[in-house]
Amino acid sequence: MKTTTLINKEDKLVVLTGAGISAESGIKTFRDSDGLWENHSIEDVATPSAFTRDPSLVWDFYAARYNQILEVKPNPGHYALKQLEDHLGDNFLLITQNIDGLHRLAGSKNVLEMHGSIDKCYCNKCEKTISTADVIAHRPASNSKTERYPSILKNKHQWFKCSKCSGLNRPDIIWFGEIPYHLDEIIARLRECTIFLVAGTSGVVYPAAQFLLMAKQHGAKTIGINLDAPMNVDFIEEFHQGKSGDILPSLVKKWIE
Ligand code: APR
Repeated sequence: MKTTTLINKEDKLVVLTGAGISAESGIKTFRDSDGLWENHSIEDVATPSAFTRDPSLVWDFYAARYNQILEVKPNPGHYALKQLEDHLGDNFLLITQNIDGLHRLAGSKNVLEMHGSIDKCYCNKCEKTISTADVIAHRPASNSKTERYPSILKNKHQWFKCSKCSGLNRPDIIWFGEIPYHLDEIIARLRECTIFLVAGTSGVVYPAAQFLLMAKQHGAKTIGINLDAPMNVDFIEEFHQGKSGDILPSLVKKWIE
């Protein structure tokens, strides 16, 4: 594989990952064919107004995703990034748009989950936090039961109601129209990084899609790994087309040996 970049221990590396890095673990991406947004509308399940309008529908979507994520494991792409962190220590920062927690499960420590995390929830009124496992534990076994028994239907939000107030627990996930987490820290690190690596993201969702150009404008060398050319491919100096689970392990091996 052609790689012109060398990484040494003095380099400050920032990595941005998206849904593509978890694809080989069996999690659907958003915008590939048969992706999540082909079968669900963003307006119905991933905005604050969707939750106000029909919180049960939103919860059906996220409960299914939560249950699926419980079944999957990190893949060689996640583990390669953990190896890179072991090599670079505090000079390594991983920013992910993913909510699946697979980087943490692979052992990565310097991770900023800018779009939140599927395993946490908070009340939309008092902001009390709670684990998704604790919320889901109260979910009725099947929708058919909910449909059959009018009393359950009447109280259909009860299972994700906050235990402290009249609010509703919602996933701790950044929806469209909300401000991502950790932006101040991310921008500070983009300004000082010497290498920016982006993997498995289509480069269409802002502000994450802007990070590549920001790092480049501040002097970083830019490297990309993606199945298809992302929207912002023009700002990538060294582009590796293919699966991150194939490409990352061999690139990281070259970088750290
Ligand atoms: N290896 C590398 N790249 C891959 C792989 C793979 N195995 N499989 C798919 N890809 C690429 C696709 O070609 C695509 O460019 O990953 C990208 C996934 O893009 P999206 O589905 O748009 O996911 P992402 O960029 O993470 O979406 C950003 O949008 O809907 C919101 O909040 C959601 O965090 C998400 C954000």
